[in-house]
Amino acid sequence: MQNNTFSTLFVGQNLIKLKEVDSTNNFLKNLASNSEPLPEGTVIMADNQFAGRGQQNSVWQTEPGKNISTSIYLKPSFLALNKQFYLNIIVSLAVSDALKEFVSSEVNVKWPNDIYINGKKLGGILIENTLTGSVLKSSVVGIGLNINQQSFSSGLLTKATSLYQILHKDVDLESVLDKIFVYMEKYYLNLKTGKYSILLSAYLQKLLYYKQKSFYQQGDQIFEGIIEGVEESGHLIMSIDKEMKMFNFKEIEFIHTK
Ligand code: BTN
Repeated sequence: MQNNTFSTLFVGQNLIKLKEVDSTNNFLKNLASNSEPLPEGTVIMADNQFAGRGQQNSVWQTEPGKNISTSIYLKPSFLALNKQFYLNIIVSLAVSDALKEFVSSEVNVKWPNDIYINGKKLGGILIENTLTGSVLKSSVVGIGLNINQQSFSSGLLTKATSLYQILHKDVDLESVLDKIFVYMEKYYLNLKTGKYSILLSAYLQKLLYYKQKSFYQQGDQIFEGIIEGVEESGHLIMSIDKEMKMFNFKEIEFIHTK
């Protein structure tokens, strides 16, 4: 464990900083299974993550030393299984509120939990839950944010952004983490005390293209739709030609129009 300066009650108070690791999520999951009980709020941070994982089995690549690659250990045993998506909601809210303290632009969440600024992806979230029977035993919340990276490979050029690209200056990584952890505690407490509708409506307010026409792709079909809401299960509700349709994760892709 390392010393930390986070102004939190439990998130980040047990801090493990690594120079290099395959994936902070993998490291934390192994740690939790080999050294129970791990304190809730344990955080893994890595300077270099050489096999970072993204959603839907994608690869998460990041320039060493420049960005945030972190995982937080939570024990949300109070949360019913059919409300698991609220973890995505609270982490999205915490990360976007934290970033908002550094930028004047709007910070949006692209469903289900990509972090967008100025129409480009600044970061992503990968949450991996462990169940015992029908109870959520633990949750590994992985957060990857582009902070001081100045440029991106040609494939990501039009899609990715970083705080550096927005502010034209470096930002101290731990000061961003501190804000994230403080907001995490706030929203986690809201969740624990059952403030579901407040959390869901705050999430919808940040949702990219909420109540706006935009283009989407399913298979080889491209269509225009309007996001009308998100179910507690996490399904996306969209109106297409005035007809309501529901989509599960992976079923549709957003078309980048910018
Ligand atoms: C995505 O947008 O696809 C989610 C990316 C999540 C990346 C983070 S970086 C820290 C943590 N460890 C991982 O291997 N992945 C997450």
